[in-house]
Amino acid sequence: MADATATDQLRTLETLALGELVGYADEPALRLWNTKFFGDKGLMKAALGKLKDIPKDQRAAFGQEANRVKLALETAYATALGTAKDAALQHSLATDKLDVTLPGRATRRGRLHPATTILRDIYAIFADLGFQVYRTREIETDDNNFELLNMPPHHPARDMWDTFFTTTPGTILRTHTSPGQIHVMREKCPDPIRVILPGMCYRNEAISTRSEIQFLQVEGLVIGEGITMADLKGTITAFARRMFGPERQVRIRSSYFPFTEPSIEVDIDWPADDPNRDRLTKGTGWLEILGAGMIHPTVLRNGGYDPDKVTGFAFGMGPQRMLMLKHAIDDIRLFWQNDRRFAEQF
Ligand code: DAH
Repeated sequence: MADATATDQLRTLETLALGELVGYADEPALRLWNTKFFGDKGLMKAALGKLKDIPKDQRAAFGQEANRVKLALETAYATALGTAKDAALQHSLATDKLDVTLPGRATRRGRLHPATTILRDIYAIFADLGFQVYRTREIETDDNNFELLNMPPHHPARDMWDTFFTTTPGTILRTHTSPGQIHVMREKCPDPIRVILPGMCYRNEAISTRSEIQFLQVEGLVIGEGITMADLKGTITAFARRMFGPERQVRIRSSYFPFTEPSIEVDIDWPADDPNRDRLTKGTGWLEILGAGMIHPTVLRNGGYDPDKVTGFAFGMGPQRMLMLKHAIDDIRLFWQNDRRFAEQF
C-alpha cells in the first residue's frame, strides 16, 4: 500500500534523524544535520514529495503524520541546538577567564612644567595687587621693540640685545617683553593702566648654561595720575615678599635703560641661613631680581599719553632665573629640552 509505504518511510526517517541528532553536540554539526533533513534538497522534503503518489482519500492521514514527524524533529533540533549553545558558552566562560576585579594598569599622570608653575605664581601675586595679564605678540616690529622705546636705529643701547631678524625688513623676534608696553598704551590710552605682560623672548646668544636663545620675561606697566617711585618700590617689595618670603629686604641700585628715567635694578637680601647664599649672591648677600624705572616721557608720548598729566613705572623680570635660584638649577638649557627627568622633579 502506497500509504503504508510512504508513512513507514516517514517513520524510518524520523528514527534515523533522531538517532543522528544525538551524536551531534556542537552547533556547526547540528546545522549540517538540519540541512540534511530540512534543506531544499533534504530528506524531509523528498519524503513529503511522495504526497502526490498517494490516493486522495489517504492523503489527509499521511499529511497529519508528516506534520507530527516534522514537528517532533524541529523540536528535537531546537532543544539540541539550545543545549549545544549553552555548552559552548559554559566552555568559553571556563577557559577564557577574565578577572574583572584585577586592578587596571596605572596611566602616567602629567604635570605642569615648572615654567608654567612659576608664571602662575607670579600672576597670582600680581592679581592680588590689582594687575591684569595682557598678552602681546612675540614677532614684533623693530619700531616697537626699539625705536618707540626710545632707541633710535643707531642708538648704542641696542647692543644690549642681540636680535633675531626675519627676512621681512623691520620685523624681528622680540628681544624683551617691553614692546608690549606700546601695544597696551595705544589700546588703553587715555585710561590708567595696571598690567603684567608675560611671554617668550628671543636673543641671538651663544647657548650656554647661563644663556638661551629663548626665555620667559614678565613685564609690568602702571600708568596714571600721580604715580611715583614710591609706588614702584611698594609694588616690588610686596611682590618680593610674597615670592621669596615675608622677611625679605629690598635694595635699589641706580641703573640705565633707555625706556625709563630714572632706571633702577632691584636686589633682595637672601636668607642668611640658606647654605647656598654665598653662591647665589656671589658673597654679597644681595641678589638681583629685576630691572625697573619710571617710564621715560618719550615712551609715554609714543603710547599716546601726555607726560605732563600722567606718570608711570615699568619693570621686567626673568621667571626662569627666579626658578633657578629657588631650586638650585644650574643649567638654563634644561628648561626647553623636554626631558621628563627634569620636569618630573617639580
Ligand atoms: N626690557 C629689559 C630687558 O629685557 C628689562 C626691563 C628693564 C624692563 C627696565 C622694564 C624696565 O620695563 O623698566 O633687559
